[in-house]
Amino acid sequence: MARKSMHGEWSSRWAFVLAATGSAVGLGNIWKFPYITGENGGGAFVLVYLACIVVIGIPVMMAEIMLGRRGRQSPINTMYDLAVESGHNPNWKWLGWLGVLAGFLILSFYSVVAGWSLAYIFRSATGVFTGATADGVESLFLDRFLAHPETLLFWHTLFMAMTIIIVARGVKSGLESAVKFLMPTLFLLLLVMVGYAMSQGEAFMQGLEFMFRPDFSALTWGGVLTAMGQAFFTLSLGMGAIMVYGSYLSHTASISRTTFTIAAADTGVALLAGIAIFPIIFANNMEPSAGPGLIFISLPLAFGHMPGGVLFGSLFFVLLSFAAWTSSISLLEPVVTWLVETFNLRRITATLYAGIVTWLLGVASVFSFNEWAFEFEFAGVVKENGIFDILDILTTNIMLPLGGLFIAIFAAWFMSREASRDELGLGDGMRYNLWRFLVKFVTPAAILLVFLNMLGII
Ligand code: PHE
Repeated sequence: MARKSMHGEWSSRWAFVLAATGSAVGLGNIWKFPYITGENGGGAFVLVYLACIVVIGIPVMMAEIMLGRRGRQSPINTMYDLAVESGHNPNWKWLGWLGVLAGFLILSFYSVVAGWSLAYIFRSATGVFTGATADGVESLFLDRFLAHPETLLFWHTLFMAMTIIIVARGVKSGLESAVKFLMPTLFLLLLVMVGYAMSQGEAFMQGLEFMFRPDFSALTWGGVLTAMGQAFFTLSLGMGAIMVYGSYLSHTASISRTTFTIAAADTGVALLAGIAIFPIIFANNMEPSAGPGLIFISLPLAFGHMPGGVLFGSLFFVLLSFAAWTSSISLLEPVVTWLVETFNLRRITATLYAGIVTWLLGVASVFSFNEWAFEFEFAGVVKENGIFDILDILTTNIMLPLGGLFIAIFAAWFMSREASRDELGLGDGMRYNLWRFLVKFVTPAAILLVFLNMLGII
């Protein structure tokens, strides 16, 4: 009784791996991972993050791809159909809604930061950073960039337009070939940056220590929640992006192998980014806890002082922008498929509607860095960028884990054993049972534990 997707299918398993990796690898790895690691004290945070990838991220990703491939529609209609099909309450569709809403909220601020990356291509290429001091690059970012809402708005608009164009054309065309070439290049360039970090002597070891020597006294429950949220965010889980991509996956592809490839690539990029960035921070007596500006201050400083820095710098921000692009389209895709299915809209019309509303909300994030900036404290970390930070915390730390929790519960407790076993293609042996044990008990328990601790209930 296999369904077919009305939106098309990937040309191969490999195309799916590339697209899903494109979705996973993005600002989350290179911009967000280093800065929240810095805010939350380093090593212990990284350890919890890695544990979350393994015990929560990987099993949930398998579940999400599986549900997508079985339902073959937008997350909302997929959850509705799968629930009804297995004799359960159609209200499971609200899980799809939670995801679509999260995707829309995330994209609104994601696009603003992706805009920074676009702007930094031009700044690097024109040699603005050459020879600049630490104070200089900081002021270039804070005073000469973030303080100007019209500049941020321009780049945010450009990035949203780029996202709309690709999604309107259908995620398959163009995307596959772009990712195939860009991901390996990004990886190589990160290695160059790691090479530069190694040349920083003492500071390189200091950077490694900061990232890999766990000091649990530096970690709060809020930090644990942030690490767990980051595992969802970085793997694009809990909001239906991977579910939608899974809905275009052919029936013959192996879900488990695919998942491991994506998770490994994603984690590799995040760790490399951290290894490249922290030594630069320590070598220049900067603060690892500088917040969202971290890579936009530390990396330009490095580019300003390394041989070939103008070239490497521009190339780096080109690649970062591409990585953000292949992620942003997966944030918009769930809502667009839903609009197409439900209102019979043309893809291009649906994309325009969804894109414009997202763009509008993004304006609130643009002003969060200047006119409307306000401070608040979250889990012991001072956040300075009002609405932007609130949207980030609400989606990453609450909505995505909540979505993941229900995805796990549905896949393990509501879907029949036969259905998940057939779909995963792991056979009926130990590997399948391990997955089932993880999504049935470990994942939900871990998410609940973190939530309850955060709320001060246990
Ligand atoms: N995983 C992407 C990143 O790390 C962000 C993303 C989150 C994309 C959720 C899709 C869904 O940049």
